[in-house]
Amino acid sequence: MDKVCTDRGFLDLKRLIGEQLSLDCNHYKDSYLQRRLAVRMRDRGARTYGDYISLLKSDPGEYDELLRDLTINVTQFFRDHAVFKALEEAVLPMLIYRKVTRGEASIRVWSAGCSSGEEPYSICILLRELLGEEFDNFSLTIVGSDIDEEVLQSAQEAVYLPRQVVNVPRAYLERYFVPDNGSYRLCQEIKDMVRFRNIDLFTGTAGSHFDMILCRNVVIYFTREMQERLYMRFYSALREGGYFVMGNTETLVGEAAHRFKQAFVRERIYQKEADGEEGTR
Ligand SMILES: C[S@@+](CC[C@H](N)C(=O)[O-])C[C@H]1O[C@@H](n2cnc3c(N)ncnc32)[C@H](O)[C@@H]1O
Repeated sequence: MDKVCTDRGFLDLKRLIGEQLSLDCNHYKDSYLQRRLAVRMRDRGARTYGDYISLLKSDPGEYDELLRDLTINVTQFFRDHAVFKALEEAVLPMLIYRKVTRGEASIRVWSAGCSSGEEPYSICILLRELLGEEFDNFSLTIVGSDIDEEVLQSAQEAVYLPRQVVNVPRAYLERYFVPDNGSYRLCQEIKDMVRFRNIDLFTGTAGSHFDMILCRNVVIYFTREMQERLYMRFYSALREGGYFVMGNTETLVGEAAHRFKQAFVRERIYQKEADGEEGTR
């Protein structure tokens, strides 16, 4: 059970943020909100939640700073080597094999909470590599979504600093990136594969019939109740046989934990069961 804070000033502040940012803070863990608020309050010299409310009212620009602090955007290409190795060597090849043998030619992937795009672009690079000459015969829908407009703009620009591409294998760096003033610009072909959308996971969805949903390092800050609801929403949004990929430190909870099959246990890759699928590893 998440610890609930009943401090009056904190509750007022949550309500105000909800109204002004259209973000229902009740779905974030209180402990997480308090830690993030403490950072802003320290920076702005606000000693109490009441002080910070006054500050927000007199300086509405502070809402942007607050949203930036509430949404932790840390990400990497090919984040967590073992996970992307499993995706590259087993999960995506199985998915493609199934499509080809069934005469299907569409693949739908959703990266939910994609930050500046590294996660969906990593999947695109793998699909481009694995599909090879079949690439043009497939219709690919790759959606990257986030609540933070600023990171979505960076995702669309797709220019990355050297430290942001350290995990990209050299061959892929040479094939899919162009050096650009000390940075690396992703090539147009991969850029064009992803459609970025602003979606609040508390309320929105990117659609249905996905073959894979990645939601990694996002829900750790959400209340348990929100996590349970979201996992079931992902379950419903997947096709039979579709995969759900979580963050390494996240745990599947609620009804979804009974519905999903564990496909790759250590890598936190789950599957919506379908007849004749491969077993647990
Ligand atoms: C730590 S990043 C994870 C990025 C990527 N999935 C990864 O694992 O590298 C978390 C992202 O979740 C987004 N986020 C936080 N709350 C959200 C919400 N309610 N709806 C949608 N995205 C949210 C943040 O803006 C941030 O970009």
